[in-house]
Amino acid sequence: MKIGIIGLGMLGNAVALHLLDSSFKVAVYNRTEQKTNEAKKRGAVATASPKELAKISDLVIIAVKDAGAVNDVSFRKDGIVEGNHNKLIVADMSTIDPSESRKIAEKFREYNIDKLDIPVMGGPNVAIKGELLMMASGNKEIFEQCKNIFEVIANKVFFLGESGIGNLIKLAMNLQATMLALALSEGITLVKKANIEPKIFLDILNSTYFKTGMSEKKAYNMIEGDYDATFTLANLKKDINTMTRTAKDLGIELPMIKKAEEVYENAIREGFGEVDYTGIINYIKKINETKQNQN
Ligand SMILES: NC(=O)c1ccc[n+]([C@@H]2O[C@H](COP(=O)([O-])OP(=O)(O)OC[C@H]3O[C@@H](n4cnc5c(N)ncnc54)[C@H](OP(=O)(O)O)[C@@H]3O)[C@@H](O)[C@H]2O)c1
Repeated sequence: MKIGIIGLGMLGNAVALHLLDSSFKVAVYNRTEQKTNEAKKRGAVATASPKELAKISDLVIIAVKDAGAVNDVSFRKDGIVEGNHNKLIVADMSTIDPSESRKIAEKFREYNIDKLDIPVMGGPNVAIKGELLMMASGNKEIFEQCKNIFEVIANKVFFLGESGIGNLIKLAMNLQATMLALALSEGITLVKKANIEPKIFLDILNSTYFKTGMSEKKAYNMIEGDYDATFTLANLKKDINTMTRTAKDLGIELPMIKKAEEVYENAIREGFGEVDYTGIINYIKKINETKQNQN
């Protein structure tokens, strides 16, 4: 299968590089062209539009920001559907609303194109090694045709059923990430303020049942608050908005994520949108410094 990747942001670029390292033929497209440079250097074919990419690909993987962007690259002028051919399959890795995902699948059906949802857990650091976790949904037969490729991209691949289910579970996963980032940020802030070394707090936490991958790895960087973004705070806020919207659609109340939405929105307003999502700790630090200066 010839693979095309649309969206060479942090995630899509790492997936493309890993597929190239694994000897696949890869075509790439990104709205901002220079982000394709690294993939081009490693042998990818850069295309001028999603249409051109679709024409030369059997499987098109989309990894763009949100549902609006997926619609843009799929159905706008020079979009994927304009490069349609009878072998084309589309798989969307972007984290989007389950109901939007179903609508997009229906629109693709009008062009006789099967669209799978393949949202993933894990950032560029694991994508570069093919160690993502994938939550696929859509047509099972089409999934089976692409499974070998998905197993190169991810070392754990779950097929979950009809369109939208993968997106819904992905939202429930990012809900965990949101809460963990906030819990660690507030825990570190609390002990620091009491003049206790935060590393001791983390070492103790990591000796208990409450430890997580985040507390064992990223949390030590959070103490200093200075590290590169692998998943931006603005992108997590976009997912939090989707969680609260989906909860509303399902007629349920999720009080904590609503509160988190407010905190992340304020952080973006204060200029923290492009830092890593765990950089929410820097926003909490900032509001406490402001409070102290006022007292
Ligand atoms: N990073 C992670 O750890 C991670 C993990 C799992 C899932 N995800 C999800 O994967 C998706 C991509 O994440 P990322 O971290 O790679 O984000 P990113 O670095 O911010 O990249 C976003 C990508 O979307 C493209 N894009 C945005 N709006 C567009 C539009 N209207 N038309 C065409 N392209 C558009 C951007 O193109 P330009 O370069 O031209 O702006 C860029 O390629 C998101 O849905 C995110 O939630 C990310």
